[in-house]
Amino acid sequence: MQKVSEEIYSQINNDIYKTEGNRWWDEDFSLNLIKTLYNPFRVDYIKKTIEKLKISSEVINALEVGCGGGILSEELAKLGLLTTGIDPSEQSLNSAINHAKESNLIINYEKGAGETLPFPNNSFDVIICCDVLEHVRDLPKVISEISRVLKSGGIFIYDTFNRTFFSKISAIKILQEWKRWAIMPPDLHVWEMFIRPEELRSLLKENELIWKEHHGIKPKISYIKMLHYLHKRAIGELTYVEFGKKFQMVESDNTQMMYMGHAVKSFSL
Ligand SMILES: C[S@@+](CC[C@H](N)C(=O)[O-])C[C@H]1O[C@@H](n2cnc3c(N)ncnc32)[C@H](O)[C@@H]1O
Repeated sequence: MQKVSEEIYSQINNDIYKTEGNRWWDEDFSLNLIKTLYNPFRVDYIKKTIEKLKISSEVINALEVGCGGGILSEELAKLGLLTTGIDPSEQSLNSAINHAKESNLIINYEKGAGETLPFPNNSFDVIICCDVLEHVRDLPKVISEISRVLKSGGIFIYDTFNRTFFSKISAIKILQEWKRWAIMPPDLHVWEMFIRPEELRSLLKENELIWKEHHGIKPKISYIKMLHYLHKRAIGELTYVEFGKKFQMVESDNTQMMYMGHAVKSFSL
């Protein structure tokens, strides 16, 4: 897989993490939905994966690549991981730093992009990258950087969007474009930047990351109910908080829209 062309990359609005970067923890804001919709299954998966793979170090050094306002990093710190979060958006990082302080959590936040991680080789036991891989300009470079800073035997855990007809309809048309249901900005995601599981698997392989599994992610409620609540949110009858409580994402066999998984760095490097 190649890095994305300038023409496609210019279509994604990664500036939202700057212009709205102070709003991550505002309960009635779209990006805060990550906390209610995604965090429950993610945190559960991360916890289960780390336990299953039994990392031997006493202190587990974790890095979240593309941490935004720290909504997931805070959960990692609460799991007892020594957490570092990195993100290119200074505004998002400020929000993350302030919120961690208010929550009495110790998290190291640094500015930087996944393509050029400012850490020495073999620094982390666990690297998490959720809802970020489909935002980056140079995916092969990001995966190679993640592999470089991960220790041998360390775990890389991720989730992202699949590039299928179903994801075009659900994640782009319904969530972003068709006014009846759209609750996200129209350029939050760009379908051409979505990643097929087999594309990710081959990038992992090229970078000495041994792929272990993929699970699908889907809404807990039926698609009919989902459309009903999306419409209510789109016309302002439900706040984001109310919407988030009704609509949660869970693990599934179906990887057509989103999937999560993990890989382990080989010992041969
Ligand atoms: C949808 S948010 C996900 C935030 C966080 N991972 C979470 O799930 O709570 C995407 C994040 O990716 C960051 N991002 C965009 N391009 C990036 C890059 N090249 N390297 C690292 N992070 C990037 C954005 O600034 C933004 O904070």
